[in-house]
Amino acid sequence: MDLPLSLRTAIEDSLSGEKPELLKKLSRQMTERYKNESGQGRVLVSQNLEARVYSAVRMPATYGAVCDALSYVQELIGTDGSNPVRTVFDIGAGSGAATWAAESVFSPQHITCLEREAAMRKVGADLMSEDPELQEKTEWSAFDLEKDALPGKADLVLSSYVLNELVPAARELAVRKFWEAADKLLVIVEPGTKEGFAVVREVRNQLLALGANLVAPCPHTDACRLDKDDWCHFSCRVARSRLHKQLKDADVPYEDEKYAYIAFSREPVARAEARVLRHPVISKGQVELSLCTRNANKTTVIRKRDGVAFKAAKKAKMGDALVLESSDTVD
Ligand SMILES: C[S@@+](CC[C@H](N)C(=O)[O-])C[C@H]1O[C@@H](n2cnc3c(N)ncnc32)[C@H](O)[C@@H]1O
Repeated sequence: MDLPLSLRTAIEDSLSGEKPELLKKLSRQMTERYKNESGQGRVLVSQNLEARVYSAVRMPATYGAVCDALSYVQELIGTDGSNPVRTVFDIGAGSGAATWAAESVFSPQHITCLEREAAMRKVGADLMSEDPELQEKTEWSAFDLEKDALPGKADLVLSSYVLNELVPAARELAVRKFWEAADKLLVIVEPGTKEGFAVVREVRNQLLALGANLVAPCPHTDACRLDKDDWCHFSCRVARSRLHKQLKDADVPYEDEKYAYIAFSREPVARAEARVLRHPVISKGQVELSLCTRNANKTTVIRKRDGVAFKAAKKAKMGDALVLESSDTVD
């Protein structure tokens, strides 16, 4: 997956002229802060140059993760031909990655970016000047999730990589606010780590108890069947620009972003029959899939003789929804 060209250009322009060594140092410091200080309600990025470095280092990955999650949701929600998402709240918008993703997937009419840090809001709004159409429909507002009420309702409430920054007690209140504001859909994306999934699992329990309709990724609404030490996550491959490679001292031209997500809707939706939980293992004439299904988590082997199902299984990747017609269950 690639960032929209206008966004990539805007990020590169925003850092041209800065000293590469300083940018690399800020990138390293920021990575350390995110690793060690998340989940404590701390401010992790507050200066303008840091926010620009954040946009270069993290936006490709968070944009990719949110695009993936929204596309999986789009597959499942029915439309009557009209755009199901006309308005969006991007909460804890940072430099706007989830907004760019919502624009790519749903092209809504209006987006409100709600963000506490002035530096993030400024950088996010500046980056959008490279895309006048997106800039025109997007409004940036100062907003503290722990203190402020949301400004009404939106078709889609989106929160990407935010809840894991809050202390646990603040999360429950935040999720309640999100759900009250979601006219149609609520989509929450978190890092694809054990800690990120623990947040998603908590959110899942909370929203099911509130009567929300689960859309994705789970095919069922029973308690999650994964062990408490395991975690459900997916992965998306995003292209690395020259700038990104420089800032991360990386050689490979892509990065694999691991993410976890959960989506709920006001109206019930026909959920996936099965969801691919791990990278499929493909060998001669067969594909082994680890699946979460409506009734069980299981490993399934699909063989060449299974015809259409084999073709679908060969194309499937971790995170995809699947319809199974013929299979051998291994366990
Ligand atoms: C890791 S960044 C994610 C930014 C963006 N959503 C993305 O996916 O790239 C987390 C953002 O949440 C914001 N944030 C954290 N706590 C917040 C709060 N209480 N109210 C509003 N924003 C908050 C931070 O300032 C930061 O911009």
